Amino acid sequence: MKKWQPLRLLRPLLLTFLSLFSFSTCRDTITINSSLSAQETLVSSGGVFTLGFFPADKHKYLGIWYTKISQQTIVWVANRDSPINDTSGVLTFSSNGSNLQLQSTSNNVLWSTSISANLVNPVAQLLDTGNFVLKENNTNNIAWQSFDHPTDTALPGMKIGFVSGFQPESEKDWKLRDRSAGCIRQVELNCTSDGFITINNAKLPDTTNATVDTTIGLDECRNRCLMNCSCTGYANSDVLNGGSGCVTWVGDLVDLRQFTGGGQDFYYRVAGSEVPVTSTKKNRNAGIIVTCVVLGLLLLASIVYFIHKKLRKNHGKYRRP
Ligand SMILES: *[C@@H]1O[C@H](CO)[C@@H](O)[C@H](O)[C@H]1NC(C)=O
Ligand SMILES: *[C@@H]1O[C@H](CO)[C@@H](O)[C@H](O)[C@H]1NC(C)=O
Ligand SMILES: *[C@@H]1O[C@H](CO)[C@@H](O)[C@H](O)[C@H]1NC(C)=O
Ligand SMILES: *[C@@H]1O[C@H](CO)[C@@H](O)[C@H](O)[C@H]1NC(C)=O
Ligand SMILES: *[C@@H]1O[C@H](CO)[C@@H](O)[C@H](O)[C@H]1NC(C)=O
Ligand SMILES: *[C@@H]1O[C@H](CO)[C@@H](O)[C@H](O)[C@H]1NC(C)=O
Ligand SMILES: *[C@@H]1O[C@H](CO)[C@@H](O)[C@H](O)[C@H]1NC(C)=O
Repeated sequence: MKKWQPLRLLRPLLLTFLSLFSFSTCRDTITINSSLSAQETLVSSGGVFTLGFFPADKHKYLGIWYTKISQQTIVWVANRDSPINDTSGVLTFSSNGSNLQLQSTSNNVLWSTSISANLVNPVAQLLDTGNFVLKENNTNNIAWQSFDHPTDTALPGMKIGFVSGFQPESEKDWKLRDRSAGCIRQVELNCTSDGFITINNAKLPDTTNATVDTTIGLDECRNRCLMNCSCTGYANSDVLNGGSGCVTWVGDLVDLRQFTGGGQDFYYRVAGSEVPVTSTKKNRNAGIIVTCVVLGLLLLASIVYFIHKKLRKNHGKYRRP
């Protein structure tokens, strides 16, 4: 006689359950059938960025922030000019699927992507670059992206601006767009444990106070900058033929910009804690996955326990005449 094999029975259940579970807690995508409510968030696949609703000035905004920075560092805001004034709020596709829109209780559309794309299977996905894209599923056919609509601070890859690792001097102003106060570093440099973040496609900062040395390469340039506590960034002085020479900057970096194409790599100095470390990122990914799986397994275990208990009880019943 065939033995009762709980695992065989449970495997499909387990798979369904786990996929449902991780979908509901760790998703990075909105589809026509899955809106984002005020209590939910999207987390980019590597865990770097979170999209959701945050409070400011007694109102609520839809925005994107760094997941790992506890004091919310908002990098993009959708409805800056029309905040939500109650507890409602849902980010959803318009009924014909061509736009993403933010609605409040009274079904007021407070913000919309306002495009006229004809997408067959539209999805909106939060990427690990901090870019929120509206696109055709399974393609790179992007119809709208938050990077084209920079609001607050800018991230590498955004059309123009600030670079990450910096934040405006006034937190309040910053949340409400005004960046005229200028930027300060998120974490002060401490000279001994600093590192660099690479900004691709950069327009180099004003070189009035920069120092050029055409005899050394990028590695030596980096060391020279690290050794000098007042050095705030470096780059190749000549980008032709794979790059050569060394420019170092001291003090404020004036007029550093980022293009979507062209330009060159600029390395700017940040505190060691701000340097993206690949292994840390992997650990964080692993952390998120482990959390999901563990929580899922815990729930599953309780289900198994009750099914098992119930089956044993029934089994017992049948045996006894
Ligand atoms: C959304 O739901 C409708 C109705 O249940 C279904 O026909 C459609 O295939 C779903 N679309 C997606 C992308 O899941
Ligand atoms: C909230 O916003 C709606 C729509 O803009 C407006 O009609 C309503 O008066 C506002 N409520 C409060 C309490 O400000
Ligand atoms: C979708 O609906 C909006 C109005 O709700 C309209 O402006 C837009 O043109 C429509 N797009 C398509 C592709 O039908
Ligand atoms: C996107 O494509 C994947 C893989 O083909 C599919 O599983 C998923 O249902 C699609 N989603 C939408 C919204 O079309
Ligand atoms: C700089 O930071 C590192 C790591 O946090 C620390 O070990 C070191 O003592 C700090 N140095 C100074 C000068 O504050
Ligand atoms: C260059 O240095 C001078 C003197 O410190 C300063 O006044 C000026 O603003 C600096 N220029 C730039 C572009 O950083
Ligand atoms: C750091 O670099 C600046 C600019 O190149 C230079 O003036 C200064 O002397 C350097 N400091 C040290 C300690 O080498």
